[in-house]
Amino acid sequence: MTIAILNSKGGVGKTTITTTLAGTLQERGYAVLLVDADPQGSAVAWHHRRAEAERKSGHLACVQITRTTLDRDLASTNADYVVIDGSARLEKLSVSAIKAADVVLIPVQPSVLDLWDVSGTAALVKARQQAHGALPGRLLWSVARSRVPCWRRRWKRRSAPWGCRC
Ligand SMILES: Nc1ncnc2c1ncn2[C@@H]1O[C@H](COP(=O)(O)OP(=O)(O)OP(=O)(O)O)[C@@H](O)[C@H]1O
Ligand SMILES: [Mg+2]
Repeated sequence: MTIAILNSKGGVGKTTITTTLAGTLQERGYAVLLVDADPQGSAVAWHHRRAEAERKSGHLACVQITRTTLDRDLASTNADYVVIDGSARLEKLSVSAIKAADVVLIPVQPSVLDLWDVSGTAALVKARQQAHGALPGRLLWSVARSRVPCWRRRWKRRSAPWGCRC
């Protein structure tokens, strides 16, 4: 299964969620391929430090791919899970990651700026859904949503047209 964590807005928690997910899946015994699709290389740096500090990287490989052929590059992987850390603002790369993905997670924070900015990424997911059928898209709160009850109703309403659910 390929999981892409995408949002064109920076600093919303993409890398934090991607690396936590990759590490957790590895610890549960899966073979995981962590794909850093961000030229900043934060996920690669995380993998390097984790490998050095904990020597747990036996089933956790990491590769940086910032080409728009990412979907084709990943076609032959035999990992149980591929987890893609997306880049802010590189739309063609996000389109390629969405092509590769079985599920797309869009981390969002409960601020009005995040709410405005998420529509671009959600529209890319929606376009893929319309062209190729079911691709599960999810808005993923990157802070505890119990702390922001007033936003919950509003976000549910806003996310429905994109085919994404919170
Ligand atoms: N759930 C959270 N609660 C508090 N802080 C968080 C949470 N998730 C991420 N952060 C912090 O927010 C900052 C940005 O997180 P992160 O680097 O994961 O975002 P990003 O979307 O990958 O950013 P970029 O677009 O620059 O790649 C970091 O300092 C991180 O520690
Ligand atoms: Mg990042």
